[in-house]
Amino acid sequence: MKIHNIVYVSKYGYTKKYAEILANKLGVCAYSLKEAKKNIKKGEPIIFLSGLNNNRLNELKKVQKKYDITSILAVGMSFIRPTLPELVRIVNGFPEDFPLFYAQGGLDPNKISKLERFFLQVSLAPYNQITEPTEEDRMTVDMLGNAADYVSEDKLYEYYAYLLDDPSYLELIPKKETNPSLEEENEEQEKEEDALQ
Ligand SMILES: Cc1cc2nc3c(=O)[nH]c(=O)nc-3n(C[C@H](O)[C@H](O)[C@H](O)COP(=O)(O)O)c2cc1C
Repeated sequence: MKIHNIVYVSKYGYTKKYAEILANKLGVCAYSLKEAKKNIKKGEPIIFLSGLNNNRLNELKKVQKKYDITSILAVGMSFIRPTLPELVRIVNGFPEDFPLFYAQGGLDPNKISKLERFFLQVSLAPYNQITEPTEEDRMTVDMLGNAADYVSEDKLYEYYAYLLDDPSYLELIPKKETNPSLEEENEEQEKEEDALQ
């Protein structure tokens, strides 16, 4: 059984939005951790949604102590890349077959504390070293200056496919646009490397 009530931890509201979309889709209730204490019994199975802080799921230990987490949606500011769910799984101590998914939330630089801002500046610094930044690289750095909200239902399609045992959702995932000139450049580079071997 994959469908259970949702418990979410949301500092700035992005995860809460996903919890509400998901609850509506699955026909279950979405509770903040505080609300869950009154509405869900200890040991019951739940779906857990949490914002990310330095790749860690907020309040994970507390939630693990009280409930049986059956699957997780992690919400962060990063654009999705194939290795991201795996990284979050490892950092938070879950085995590789644990169903953990990721969806991009957003960031409002006016709402975070000075310390959080400093932390993000440090962790985003490598983006400024990229010589040919992609649109996504630029948009990531821009989040420190301008609020961005990337919450949208299509970012839940992979999770829907898992929860509803319906692979047709995977076909609905919007394809990323590729940069044709960059692709050609990469192909040329690969050919040169092959020739050298
Ligand atoms: C101090 C700090 C650390 C963060 N660390 C990460 C991170 O490691 N990975 C990520 O994708 N997003 C990270 N974020 C962005 C948040 O996860 C993102 O804003 C998310 O949408 C927050 O969801 P919430 O408002 O529901 O808590 C961080 C934000 C702050 C303020």
